[in-house]
Parts: sequence; structure tokens; C-alpha cells
Amino acid sequence: MNTNTLSIHTVNTAITSYDFKLLCFAASLWAFDYPFRFPDIVDRIMTALVKYEVQGPVAVITLNSPPVNGLGNGLRAGLLEAYETATQDKAVKAMVIASSAKLFCGGADISEFDSDKAFAKPDLPSLLVTFEASQKPLIAAINGVALGGGMELTLACDYRIALPQAKLGLPEVNLGILPGAGGTQRLPRLVGAQKATQMITSGVPIGAQEALELGLLDKIATGNNFLEEAIAYANALIESNAPVKTCADLSVDTSDLPSDFFAEFRKSIARRTKGFFAPERCIQAVEAAIALPLKEGLEKENQLFQECVVTPQARAQQHLFFAQRAAGRIPGLDPKMAIRDIKKVGIIGAGTMGGGIAMNFANAGIEVKLLEIKGDALERGLNAIKKNYEISAKRGKLTQAQMDANLALIQGTLSYDDLGDVDMVIEAVFENIDIKKSVFKQLDAVCKPGAILATNTSYLDVDEIAAQTKRPEDVIGLHFFSPANVMKLLEIVRATKTADDVLVTVLKTAQRIKKTPVVSGICWGFIGNRMFEPYGREATRLVLEGAAPAQVDKALTDFGWAMGFCSVIDLAGIDVGFFAREGIRDQLAHDPSYQVLCDQLNNMGRFGQKTGRGFYIYEGRDRLEDPEVIEMSSKTAQELNITQREISDKEIIERTIYSMINEGAKILEEGVSYRSSDIDLVFTNGYGFPVHKGGPMQYADEVGLDNVLAAIKKYQSELGSHGDNWFKPAPLLEKLVAEGKSFKDYQTGS
Ligand code: 3HC
Ligand code: NAI
Repeated sequence: MNTNTLSIHTVNTAITSYDFKLLCFAASLWAFDYPFRFPDIVDRIMTALVKYEVQGPVAVITLNSPPVNGLGNGLRAGLLEAYETATQDKAVKAMVIASSAKLFCGGADISEFDSDKAFAKPDLPSLLVTFEASQKPLIAAINGVALGGGMELTLACDYRIALPQAKLGLPEVNLGILPGAGGTQRLPRLVGAQKATQMITSGVPIGAQEALELGLLDKIATGNNFLEEAIAYANALIESNAPVKTCADLSVDTSDLPSDFFAEFRKSIARRTKGFFAPERCIQAVEAAIALPLKEGLEKENQLFQECVVTPQARAQQHLFFAQRAAGRIPGLDPKMAIRDIKKVGIIGAGTMGGGIAMNFANAGIEVKLLEIKGDALERGLNAIKKNYEISAKRGKLTQAQMDANLALIQGTLSYDDLGDVDMVIEAVFENIDIKKSVFKQLDAVCKPGAILATNTSYLDVDEIAAQTKRPEDVIGLHFFSPANVMKLLEIVRATKTADDVLVTVLKTAQRIKKTPVVSGICWGFIGNRMFEPYGREATRLVLEGAAPAQVDKALTDFGWAMGFCSVIDLAGIDVGFFAREGIRDQLAHDPSYQVLCDQLNNMGRFGQKTGRGFYIYEGRDRLEDPEVIEMSSKTAQELNITQREISDKEIIERTIYSMINEGAKILEEGVSYRSSDIDLVFTNGYGFPVHKGGPMQYADEVGLDNVLAAIKKYQSELGSHGDNWFKPAPLLEKLVAEGKSFKDYQTGS
């Protein structure tokens, strides 16, 4: 901004009354000549949540609450005071709402939703109604992302100008709520019901160009000096006597809306939104926008918003939002420490995992050398990668040019000598400790000093692998999930000697390849597979006790899992689970019922889908109940003196989920995981645990740890030796219950 043209209001910035008091205090200190303390206080004032300046006839109201200008109580109060100041100033003819942050506004302050603060005056919906009623034009100057309440703020303005890189979206549905500050009422009035329904139920933002074409933006700026452009635009509007606008004057244009639009739309999202509460309320809100005048529509929106915001689902989804951000924070580590430069990556093994991992790096523009033991395996691996890219290209997910560029970044090799210049290696050979040890010995011999050496092992001891090298500090586990080019989760296994900068480097690298990283300590199966084991143990034991695989699976999918356990193990391979258990056989010798059905199926060569039979029979795309499995379970139960009985869905859920929660408590107490929300990220991103339940640990907090503990104790006493072996409450669970705390309250070491 050209400061020469500023009016006398220039640094009259203190907007909230708290800041005004600070200003007075500062002035008094100035009078008493406190030269050293005064600058601190000026700083505080200059970082007031809202800045207010007047330039000619234009008041510039700047959101100044980085990093995301979350519209918390303070910022809303500041906005209202600034607005009232501009309204009362006769010289002001228009207001520009701008941002001092990199983005425009990330919406309402999500952390306020669990208190009354979110609804304290001035609440966002009423504030925006006030803005909309302004007699002076309001111009939103959208310099970047405007999401949720941030976008709703722009909708209550009369005109919108944006930078080309701006994005507008209403992602509330991902937080288990709906846009509650007019978004569901104003957006359909501006862009029509179809586009609004799609945007509100998907939460996916649109770019500036599309927003302009939809009439959501009035102008895209060049970006040379955005604020100046926005002010010039405001001046032009003043000069042309541009009118103020209000959505209250608009109704939703339904002339092109098919009569069955909402019915069809509901059908189209049914699968994706199964079990979620908010999407249906989003649709009802848009229907209300069509049926009702703005004022009543806003009331309906508010009612639907209130229904959503108190649900366990809303708490769960908001928990996951913060979990995602917390996962990168490692106690005692400075995330800003110098990291190693990763430009070139080596991958050992071009099988199922190696190929997918290679694609992740190529997609991020990082060069890959893919090493195999034999030429034909290498060719197979490279062909599989090419085929995968071709499928994506056919689906329109990438262009031929992008595909060619990605493929050019992946080079195959049969020689370890080619790995001398790579900055990081990820080993993805067979899950066999001796083969992995020999690979790491070779890597130690050829890789340059400082190269990070990672293993994709699912279960093996990363310390033992690291010990094969003379540089265990450079060794770490990077546990990708299958298909590795698709699945978001990346478990980072911090070995005992892993250097801090190696850990921070891989955390940052995970972001570059668009993964959700979660750090785990060393233990059999790390966080995910270790907890999945008792879950699977109970699922199959329930079959032994008389539940059919289909009943177990249905109870689990009704709970919200993407697939039931018996279907999952058939897909992953019963043989794979069999070999994984080999590592813990010595701990299981006392329980002959442990995974006995899986072992029998494995010994019969029924490995699941790949052999056409496992827990189910597979015919084409059909999955059929297998009477032989039911018979086998009945016979085995008799042999083991287990009386088969009717089993309720409640028991299926409690035994499978609570046994994994119990294991999660042990994982927390051992320090394998830093916080319970990390565990929740693992299960919602890697295992198909329902997002709307927030992960197993959040689910336990929601159910109440006392209830979980009581059920565990009940099964311990009711299930004979099985109960006694497996339903031993974790000491941490008992401790938290005794202290009246939840998992959320617990951080490793606390
Ligand atoms: N409320 C509270 N805190 C928020 C927030 C919000 N709306 N958005 C971001 N934050 C916090 C993050 O937790 C993080 O805190 P931390 O540093 O302590 O971990 C910090 O701001 C920075 O966030 P990111 O790391 O995510 O920053 P990015 O630059 O990567 O991304 C963003 C910025 C795209 C805005 C992303 O933060 C985001 O998607 N935010 C949420 C957007 C959203 O869902 N808005 C709807 C809110 S609900 C609403 O508006 C209701 C209304 O309809 C009434
Ligand atoms: P895979 O059998 O599909 O591929 C392994 C590849 O490694 C084969 O192509 C083989 O030729 C190659 N190989 C074997 N020894 C080698 C050596 N000494 N040097 C170079 N190449 C060698 O196995 P997959 O499924 O890709 O698994 C690899 C690793 O990833 C295992 O540790 C596994 O536990 C882990 N993992 C597997 C997941 C899965 O779902 N498949 C999921 C997560 C981890």
C-alpha cells in the first residue's frame, strides 16, 4: 500500500477493546518515558487480530491472525468493531476485507467447537448477516485459500476479487458438520443448487478461474500488488455507484434443475458417505435454500448445524484433523533442524511394494533407481509400474506427458554399484530377516556416507537390520501400505539408534510424496500390524465359537469398517498372515485355539482370493459362504472343547475392537506411539477403520474407558482360558480409568 496516501486513521489499528486498553497503556508508558518497554507493547498492538486502515474512501479491514486467520471469538469481535468503525465513518464509502496471512482464511476456529466460545457473540452467522446488510459495499480481497467460514465470509460480501491461485471451498463435511454461517444458503443462490450440493457434500475447493466462471468471483487480479488492486477495484465500484447486494434478494435458480436431482444425488454418494451423519444434513440444507427465503433458510441451516456439531462423529472427524497435524511433532525434536537433501532414491525389490514405492517418488519428481536380483523380475516390476501409470492415464488422472516424465525418472538396475550416489534407499525384498540382513550389508558397502537406509519390513526388528551396518544411525523403517502408490499411511519406524535428523528428513520427505506419516517405535508389527493382530484373533475365534464369517464381517462393516476381517484376510492372503505369525509362535504355544482356522486354511492351500477359496468361496466377482469352513469350525470347536453358540453383533464388535484398544494402551504405555491420536491416524489411513469413529482410541474415549475396561473384564471372566489368556486389561487402561482420564489426556511419558 502507498503509505503517502493514507488518511489519519493509518495506525489507528487497535480494534478490540482489549487492544484499545493496551494502546492507552502504551501511550501512558510513552508519557512516562519507558523507552525499553514501549516497543514490546507496540508489537502487541501491531499484531492485533484485525488491522484497520483507511485509504481515501476505502476502509481496509485486514484479518491478522496467522497462520490461518481462524475465525475465533477474538477475530470475530475485531471484525465487528472494524466494520462498525467503517460504518460510522462518513468518509468511508466501501470496505475491503483482506488478509495479512499467506492465505485468506481457514474458516471458523475448529478448536472452539467443544466449548461455548464458538457460539459466543458475535457469532459468525450473525456477524455475516450484519455484513450482508451493510449499506456500504464490502469487497473480499481473496489472496489465497478461503475455506469454510472463510469462504462464507466472502459470500456475505458484495463483491469478490481474488488472486489467480486462490481457492474457495466448504470442507465442513470433512469435520462432521455443515457450513453453518450461511454457506448452504448463499452458495446455491450464487451458483445454483447442483454445483453447491456437489461442493458442500464433497468439501473439495475450486480454483479462482472456475469460481469466476461460476459467478462466484467478480474479478481475478494480476497479483502485482494485490491489495492495491483490490483498493483500486473498490474505488472503481464507488465511482460507478455500484450497488450493495444481498443474497436475501436472490432465490435459487431451479430452472435447469432436474426434478429427481436430489434423489439421484443421494444415490450417487450413498456408498462413499455410508454411515456418515453430516452429508445428508448438507443436502437437506441446500433443499431448504430452494424452499425457503434466506432468513428462514439460515434458521434451518443453523438447526442442522447444531444437530451435527454435537455428534460423536463431528468430534471424531475434528479429532482426526488435529491428529494429522500433531503427528509430525516429535517430542524433543526441533522440526526446523537441518535435514538431509533427498534428490535420488534407490529401491531394492521391484515386487508389489517396491514398484508402488518407486511411483510415489517419481510422482514427486524424485529420481529412482530400482534394483532387482534378476533381469526377468526387474522387467516384470517395470512393466507393472508402466501398466499402473497407463491405467491412471486412461482414467484421466495424468497426461501422457506426465506419465512419460514419471517413467523416465525410474531406472532399473541389477547392480548395487549403481546405488553409490543415492541419498536414500528403501529396501522392499521378501519378508525374511536373513535376506534383509544381507541386503543391508551390501548397502553399507556401496552407499555414500549420510545416505539414509530404510526398510519396508512389516514385522521384523529394525534394530537387528541396522546392526548389519556400520552406520545404524542412518537406518530407519519406512512401512508403506499396499497399494503403496495409493495408500496414504506411512509408518516411520524410529529404531533405537536412528539419528534425529534422519527422522526429521523422512518426515519431510513423507510430505513431499503426499503421505500421512506416523512415527512408531520398535516392536513386532509396529503400531498397525501389532494392533490388527488381536483384532483378527478375536474375529476368527468368534467363527470358532459359532459365528459365520459372513456374520462377523457384516457386524464389522455395519460398524463402519471398509471390509470385515475374514474378507480382508482372504484379500491379503491367509498365507501372508501365517508367515507373519511365525515370528510370535513361541509366545502363543499355550493357546491351541489361536488362529487355528487360519492355520488350517493355510495348510489346505486355501490362501483366500488368489486361490479362489479362503474363509469364503470366490466365483468371479462373487463371494460365497463356504459350508466347509462352517463345518471345519464346528469340528475344531468340538476338538478344543469350545461350545458353539449364538453370538450377538455387540459381542463381535466389543471383542474385536476392545482387544485392539487394549493393545493400543500397551503401545502407548511402552512409548511405541507418542500419542493416542497417532494410533488413530494409523487405523483410519491404513486399515479402513471408520473415519466417522475417529480411530480406535478416539472411539474408546467416546465410549468411555470405564465401559471399555468393564467389558474387557467381563470377557476375561466369561471366556474361560481364552479370556484369561487374552483379555488382560492393559495397566495404562486401568490407571486412566482410576484417574478418570481418557487416552487423549495421555502422552508418552506423562
Ligand atoms: N481452526 C483452528 N485451527 C486451524 C484451522 C481452523 N479452521 N485451520 C488450521 N488450523 C491450525 C492447524 O491445526 C495448525 O495448527 P498447529 O500449527 O498448531 O498444528 C495451523 O493452523 C496450521 O494449519 P496447517 O498445518 O493445516 O496449515 P496449511 O498451510 O498446511 O493448511 C489450511 C492451511 C488449508 C487452511 C488447512 O489448515 C485447513 O484445511 N484447515 C481447515 C479448513 C476447514 O476445514 N475449515 C472449516 C472450519 S469449520 C467452519 O468454518 C464452520 C463454519 O461453517 C461455521
Ligand atoms: P514381493 O514378493 O512382491 O516382492 C519382493 C521382491 O524382492 C521380488 O521381486 C524379489 O525378486 C525381490 N528380491 C528378493 N530378494 C532380493 C534381493 N536380495 N535383492 C533385490 N531384490 C530382491 O514382496 P512385497 O509384497 O513387495 O513385500 C516386500 C516387503 O514389503 C516385505 O518386507 C513385506 O513384508 C513388506 N510389505 C508388504 C506389504 C504387502 O501388502 N505386500 C505391505 C507392507 C509391507
